[in-house]
Amino acid sequence: MIKINRQINSFNKKILIEGDKSLSIRWALLASQAKGKSTAKNILKSEDVICTLKCLKNLGVQVNLKKNICVINGVGLNGFKYQNELKLDAGNSGTLGRLILGLLVHSEKKIKIYGDKSLSKRDFNRVITPLEKFGAKFYSNKGKLPIIIKGTKNPKPINYVEKRGSAQCKSAVMLAALNTRGETIIKAKKSRDHTERLFKYLKIPIKLIKKNKNDIIKINGEKKFKPLNYKIPSDISSSAFFIVLTALSKKSKIFLKNVNINPSRVGVIKILKMMGVKIKFKNTKIYKGEKIADVIVLGSEKFNAIKCPSELNSAAIDEFLIIFLVAAKANGVSYFKNLSELNQKESPRLEWGSKILKFMGVKTETTKDSIKIYGNPKLKIDKKIIIKNYLKDHRVFMTSVIAALSFGGEWKIHDEDCVKTSFPTFMKLINSLNKK
Ligand code: S3P
Repeated sequence: MIKINRQINSFNKKILIEGDKSLSIRWALLASQAKGKSTAKNILKSEDVICTLKCLKNLGVQVNLKKNICVINGVGLNGFKYQNELKLDAGNSGTLGRLILGLLVHSEKKIKIYGDKSLSKRDFNRVITPLEKFGAKFYSNKGKLPIIIKGTKNPKPINYVEKRGSAQCKSAVMLAALNTRGETIIKAKKSRDHTERLFKYLKIPIKLIKKNKNDIIKINGEKKFKPLNYKIPSDISSSAFFIVLTALSKKSKIFLKNVNINPSRVGVIKILKMMGVKIKFKNTKIYKGEKIADVIVLGSEKFNAIKCPSELNSAAIDEFLIIFLVAAKANGVSYFKNLSELNQKESPRLEWGSKILKFMGVKTETTKDSIKIYGNPKLKIDKKIIIKNYLKDHRVFMTSVIAALSFGGEWKIHDEDCVKTSFPTFMKLINSLNKK
């Protein structure tokens, strides 16, 4: 448990945020399917990524992690080697749990996937349903972990319509298509597109037709590809905590180096700009198919209330808790809707957003998929607040820390270890801000 009972002093800092989680996991899974040595610098050394590497080792892949450099000796398509009834631990990671199932549709020996308390509450039917169509068999209790998968020798390509805007569902099917002869066709509601970009960069046969709300993705499977050397850029989702802390701290300034500003991830930037947050990108460039920039943020005092356009939901899905803190200080009532997916995350995050704001003395009206936040430009907390989320959601913890440092009050925030899943150096970076 950590105690915070001071507001942060203004700061002017340059910091390096850890590597992108989505990219670290995807790089590792794809590197395992190439034949030969792939290297990633600045890989995120968080529990979700470590679990990914352990799963790959258990599937017979050579993995070597030293400092922030990871080397994977890929076994090639259809190359996993493991004993029957292998057990794989996906830990807290929905991305790992769902994506790896895609890679296993053609693996005939049974594998059991399990995870922690939070992951065991999450829905896997969303990936089981399309992956069954490839011919794999699944055994589970109502689509919850633990799940046993028994792949098929001859997976059949499928047509799949992804309606949630879930990058995990889309990517699980793309990875299944990788090992499947013939053309898999996906019509997917827009969501983060790292997997598509990596496929393109690796010259895996992929056709992309971008439409207004959906993308059509066609993949021709069973084509070998080369190893991938990569330098993982900083994670925009982790950056978001520091962007908001800076925005809410007048006279502060922060410089975040080399952040992944993939257009399908910058919903948070667009929303915060609508609210009046001063954010700029510098040194924008394309690196191996991903867009990267330095991000500069200035603190302010005035924020606009907004009606958040739902088209931005998927591109900001991991950042809503932290965005709600800006809405708490905005001038007027903000409204966020069509957010039922937020309650499907590591913990029910829409409920948690509402709970944290209530503790802070901010009025909200919350339904199953929307929240109205009554902003107060003079918001200052002078009471005791205890945050204990029994599902130990990393983003609930980090949002609470930012709220405490931005608005004051006496906070006791439990389970600081949970940041290890996505952002192990979070507290260290926070503590560095007011140091000379
Ligand atoms: C992720 C996709 C999102 C996001 C998660 C990471 C990914 O989940 O919330 O943190 O790396 O594909 P959904 O696909 O469930 O929206």
